[in-house]
Amino acid sequence: MVEDLIKRAARDLTESKHAIALTGAGISTESNIPDFRGPKGIWTLNKEAEAKAYERYELFLNDPRAYWEEIVGLRGTYGKFHGQIREAQPNPGHYALAELEALGILKCVITQNIDGLHKKAGSKRVLEYHGSVNAVRCVSCGSRFAWEEVSLDELPPRCKCGAVLKDDVVHFKEPIPSDVMEESEKEALRCDLMLICGTSAVVYPFANLPRMARYHASRLVLGLDVIGRKTNVKIIEVNADPTPLTDEGVSDYLIQGKTGEVLPRIAEEVKTARLRREY
Ligand code: APR
Ligand code: ZN
Repeated sequence: MVEDLIKRAARDLTESKHAIALTGAGISTESNIPDFRGPKGIWTLNKEAEAKAYERYELFLNDPRAYWEEIVGLRGTYGKFHGQIREAQPNPGHYALAELEALGILKCVITQNIDGLHKKAGSKRVLEYHGSVNAVRCVSCGSRFAWEEVSLDELPPRCKCGAVLKDDVVHFKEPIPSDVMEESEKEALRCDLMLICGTSAVVYPFANLPRMARYHASRLVLGLDVIGRKTNVKIIEVNADPTPLTDEGVSDYLIQGKTGEVLPRIAEEVKTARLRREY
């Protein structure tokens, strides 16, 4: 019963010492940003766009000027998608996670989303694992800049260190920026509860994070025979569909539903319980 699982999640969160949240595109569909692999997902509906997405990083490496000309031109799917993202507003799912942080329960949100909606909803500690549409990053020194700080008069734009700048969004085949990756792995190995919201959990290396929490194994040994050394970290999924984490028993339970409906009810339950000092 979803109701019972919501109460269970609220109890688990209240009893946790270091809870973190992991999120994916599913948490932003109720903000009118399509996900990728759901029934109405961008890749589900447009295989060509998915194939093109696998070529973007190579284009940047081989011809950064052409890459930037495309960005500036904001042509094709890329432009339309980013336009939708910039107009979007957080939904109750984002606000619920911000509230759980404000209550001192959630220590951070690690998101695959590039839409910046967690920060817009008031979450303070957000690790943007796949970057953000709101920033530009130096591929050499790792510095990040707001778009307003970067002159696009000459393409490709360059960092103070002289290296080429890239929009912060992380493409397929592109390495995850080391600062975000290290911080996220530290959190995955440190947490005693992981709340995973709106992700199909099929994209790596992000999908390693729940397994690192479940087996307290670093990325390097995952895949080796770590089964049997399970930790008692509480791993809870909130998703419209089961994922490989559900099927493999990496998560303890799945609350099947919409994040925009389930997460606010969990936050409500936590607050009510606190008031009643039931837990
Ligand atoms: N509430 C709960 N779950 C939802 C909702 C919702 N409102 N809307 C969609 N979902 C579920 C879908 O059923 C699916 O299981 O969220 C999941 C979204 O999965 P994906 O579309 O695969 O998105 P994500 O896991 O974030 O993708 C990872 O892949 O394409 C790349 O870089 C991109 O960051 C992205 C990465
Ligand atoms: Zn630099």
